[in-house]
Amino acid sequence: MVALTSWWQSAVVYQIYPWSFQDSNGDGIGDIPGIIERLDYLNDGTAASLGVDAIWLSPLYPSPMVDFGYDVAEFCDIDPRFGTLGDFDRLVQESHRRGIRVIMDLVLNHTSDRHPWFQEARSSRSAAKRDWYYWADGKAFGRRPNNWNARFGGSSWAWDSPSRQYYLHSFLKEQPDLNWHNPAVRRAMWGVVRFWLDRGVDGFRLDAINWLGKDSRWPNNPFRPGLRGYTRQTHRYDRDQPMGHEVLRELRTLSGNYPEVVLIGEASADTPGGPVAFYGNGTDELHMLFDFRLLKSPWQADRFGQLLAADQQRIPEGGWPTIVFSNHDQSRHIDRYGKGGHAERRARTTAVLLLTLRGTPFLYYGEELGMKNTRLRYRDLRDPYTKRFWPFRIGRDPARTPMQWDESVHAGFTRGTPWLPVASNYRDLNAAQESQNHSSLLSLYRRLIRLRKVYPALSEGAYRHITTAPSDCLVFLRQQPSPSDTDPDILVAVNFSADARTVTLSDFTKVGTVQLSTLTGAGSARPWHPAQFHLEPDEAIVVALPNGEAGR
Ligand code: NOJ
Repeated sequence: MVALTSWWQSAVVYQIYPWSFQDSNGDGIGDIPGIIERLDYLNDGTAASLGVDAIWLSPLYPSPMVDFGYDVAEFCDIDPRFGTLGDFDRLVQESHRRGIRVIMDLVLNHTSDRHPWFQEARSSRSAAKRDWYYWADGKAFGRRPNNWNARFGGSSWAWDSPSRQYYLHSFLKEQPDLNWHNPAVRRAMWGVVRFWLDRGVDGFRLDAINWLGKDSRWPNNPFRPGLRGYTRQTHRYDRDQPMGHEVLRELRTLSGNYPEVVLIGEASADTPGGPVAFYGNGTDELHMLFDFRLLKSPWQADRFGQLLAADQQRIPEGGWPTIVFSNHDQSRHIDRYGKGGHAERRARTTAVLLLTLRGTPFLYYGEELGMKNTRLRYRDLRDPYTKRFWPFRIGRDPARTPMQWDESVHAGFTRGTPWLPVASNYRDLNAAQESQNHSSLLSLYRRLIRLRKVYPALSEGAYRHITTAPSDCLVFLRQQPSPSDTDPDILVAVNFSADARTVTLSDFTKVGTVQLSTLTGAGSARPWHPAQFHLEPDEAIVVALPNGEAGR
């Protein structure tokens, strides 16, 4: 086992959705000065704070906000709703002062249709930047260039009346795709990357990387009979073409000129060959990939076990896993996993998984409090994707409501009118209250993050699935890296079922100590015996064991 070499392998990352974290000027929208005010909550260097090592900021760029910042109208500036470049520099400085690294969101696949590049490109067929985007003629009888459909519904082609051609958009029609075949686009975007790295950012979360490579001969995608929406075709030609990898290799080379930059890709769960494809050979594409297959899995110990075992084997050497259960595109996991079960108990169990599995954990703001999907009325909705599929799909707005800081009006998020309603449970569920309560979910997250710092096995250790556990319990060992040290191994046992379970690990002989149980949020001084132990419904325990136990 090789000791970890990079900060991001042992880091805990916290995703901030800037719209909803903290408003400082009363306009009802979160902003950068607001984030700075709250940095101590994230890490003030004491056990009273969460203790995260990095923040990932969803887009802050100037944008018409049709897709809430993922439609970028200028890559080298800050949207005035969020502040100024000066505020951003202060955020980087203040974060670094607290030992918090800063990860920017970077949208490579598309821009806003308001971006000056696209405005110029659409001005005429002979415009200088015309081929910075993808244009195609329609087929006979007014038919679109091909059958590709966009991730957010409808065709991927939008008609541009003045120039009488279609342009390609893999997401909303307000998000035209950049033509990465064009070297001028690459040069411009690499300029953007340098701009932010020179300002001191520590890495990028790369949006929608599956879409970078597409077949610009525009062949039709094959149909998948019987399916509807985005899945009614196999996305063979509109995504995942080799050029995407070429672009990521260029980016990796460029970022290698800066010390310790991390590149994290957002890759779809249905990437051919799995998201691991974007690690390249382990050293030439991305350092980390979000893998949403765990997030999308039903709450079943054997499903989780299978996915984890498969991934550990497939990530090439040099690549590193991520663990993620919630983000700004997903229903919050407390509700997703809580369906048909005890949501609060499962949220605690999930926290243990997030912070003890092998890989870098990504928390989504508010999950540490147990914030739920907020019930919204149609007239409250802001996100076009949520509106389009409402009420048949939950969409994204319910998971984007303001952070619940305290009991004061609008949960301490704003003194104005919040851009999305604050969840009505904020008086009973907020950071201020949970900070005072030792058995709260927030206290559990804090304690788990501290355990990761105390026990190298949790950040560095190999993952070993223990096969002798009952099928509805997931038991695994994190083996500390150098057996000559006295640091313990960590055994984690998670009961996925709503019934109590007795577990026998006959291959283990040594007595351990429970560092944390989700029932109490604390450890226990009593010796723990592997020969037979008990897990309450939805309980997870974290046990320190003398190292060197084999297990099966
Ligand atoms: C993925 C982002 O996470 C999502 O919020 C966005 O709408 C799409 N990519 C398009 O940029």
